[in-house]
Amino acid sequence: MQFWKRSHLCGDLRLADDSSRVTLSGWVRRRRDHGGVIFIDLCDRTGLTQVVFSPAASPEAHRTAQDLRSEFVVAIRGEVRSRPEGTVNPKLPTGEIEVFADGLQIINPSLTPPFPIEDEEDLQEEIRLRYRYLDLRRPSMLRNLHLRHRVTGRVRRILDEQGFWEIETPLLTKSTPEGARDYLVPSRVHPGKFYALPQSPQLFKQMLMVAGVDKYFQIARCLRDEDLRADRQPEHTQIDLEMSFVEPEDIFEVIEGMVGTLFSEFLGFEMARPLRRMTYAEAMLTYGSDKPDLRFGLKIREVGDIFRENEFRVIRQALDSGGVVRGLAVPGGAALSLKQLDDLTGFCQEAGAGGLLWILFKEGGALKSPMKKYLSEGEVAHLRELFDCSEGDCLMLIADQAPTAAEVLGRLRLKLAADLKLIPRDRFEFLWVVDFPLLAYNPEEKRFEAVHHPFTSPHPEDLELLKTDPGKVRSRAYDLVLNGTELGGGSIRIHREEVQEQVFALLNIKREEARSRFGFLLEALHYGAPPHGGIALGLDRLLMLMGGLSSIRDVITFPKTQKAICLTTGSPSEVSPRQLKDLHIGLTVPRGEEQP
Ligand code: AMO
Repeated sequence: MQFWKRSHLCGDLRLADDSSRVTLSGWVRRRRDHGGVIFIDLCDRTGLTQVVFSPAASPEAHRTAQDLRSEFVVAIRGEVRSRPEGTVNPKLPTGEIEVFADGLQIINPSLTPPFPIEDEEDLQEEIRLRYRYLDLRRPSMLRNLHLRHRVTGRVRRILDEQGFWEIETPLLTKSTPEGARDYLVPSRVHPGKFYALPQSPQLFKQMLMVAGVDKYFQIARCLRDEDLRADRQPEHTQIDLEMSFVEPEDIFEVIEGMVGTLFSEFLGFEMARPLRRMTYAEAMLTYGSDKPDLRFGLKIREVGDIFRENEFRVIRQALDSGGVVRGLAVPGGAALSLKQLDDLTGFCQEAGAGGLLWILFKEGGALKSPMKKYLSEGEVAHLRELFDCSEGDCLMLIADQAPTAAEVLGRLRLKLAADLKLIPRDRFEFLWVVDFPLLAYNPEEKRFEAVHHPFTSPHPEDLELLKTDPGKVRSRAYDLVLNGTELGGGSIRIHREEVQEQVFALLNIKREEARSRFGFLLEALHYGAPPHGGIALGLDRLLMLMGGLSSIRDVITFPKTQKAICLTTGSPSEVSPRQLKDLHIGLTVPRGEEQP
């Protein structure tokens, strides 16, 4: 059957088209039978048009329309008419017209969909992912796909205008050092050998700088076998770039320009530039996080000094063992019940603290606190001044080692903000977090690890510390943070081989191991490597935040579940014994028991 070619799309028609003859095609979203006259909402990705079938216009079309069900694919022919007074729908762009059909063609019937193709909020995600093609047919999901298309297109143009070249790099490659587990691909022609899927194009983009490319970018797929969350998928996409002869400020300028343009053009939000910069040390102290959410206050402050003379056991123990006392003030927190305070204490204990200290400043000047007896008037006055506390507020304190206090208060801050509804929805608070430490000590493995990756340049002022106190060395790494989400990260790289060797030594990566893992890059650094640096923005996270969504799964066509399963295709799945044999692979899991 030849289907009728459409003359317009379902979102096209307006009052100006009154009386024209049109052919439309699309999906039947709803059908209403109004005593002899049948209405359908005909949909495609551009919108919805109301179509009317009456026996007067065409008895045959009217008869066929009785068989229409949700999601049938049809074509209709008819005449555009302005809607009678009182039936105009101001919510629809096409709401002033309807099409009186005199021809109907059922192109393809549909099974009853497992859920209505509507923007309903509480659909179960499992069923959405199982029938993802239907889920994606919903207007909100099509909107997300369209946003993704428009944003990537705009990013390409912005970077092209600034002289960046879009360059592809291999997917079948060697392990890259972003810190997650690799996905491996067995080689058929080289028994026992494996490719790794790239965790990022990191090493390739650095070699492109050695090649003289100068400004590279790629909308790059990255694959990491790590624990999944709302903002983490095994495959994600980065806006990845690298530049030669640059300082961090040059990278900031490119990214601020690009992100600023996107937010202005797509959301009408004017980003104030330059963006705020905050050192890692300040972020950890004041917000208990390296990706602080600046949409609300609840700032954390050090109060150890105020408690220098305090004899309360928990505080004494923390301070005497080199720890800290830090806290935050909760406006209106004096109204919290003992049960609520107990729950918050439990929350802090789960996060790793011994407990939570609190001081309630009751109306009328009374204090309520488990450490009330140990609080001097001077201390109270000091605390109230520091936190700018009024009656009715409450102070929450953690006395512990600095990293634990930061972590726990950081989490507590986010929880309180969510519980007390302190987070404004329509705000965008960007910042750069800078001066990350180069190395972090892993006490279990008794060795240093790279905080960003092993090619990150140490801060030039801290080069001497590399020899004396490596844990204190700052790096030239930076993160772009938006509303408490890490949107991107990058660094100026090491371009001198001797510095690279020094860092490998500190990371306890033996010369041999370095040669076998990244020898090709080290070699490249010998052949005239320019100073270079770059960054990668998480495209999925960027779109999630631009779209006001709470999961990156909503901007990815066919995402994996929390357990890294694709419910649409059923991957990962077993393969045939023949395939395994070709790949020289023997399984240690009994067949059929691969799934937990
Ligand atoms: P990094 O590992 O910080 O840096 O990644 C850059 C950005 O990518 C996003 N991202 C993810 N998004 C979704 N799911 C994931 N599993 C995931 N992992 C990372 C984040 C993150 O900020 N090669 C370096 C960049 C560089 O140094 O130039 C890199 O990959 O938004």
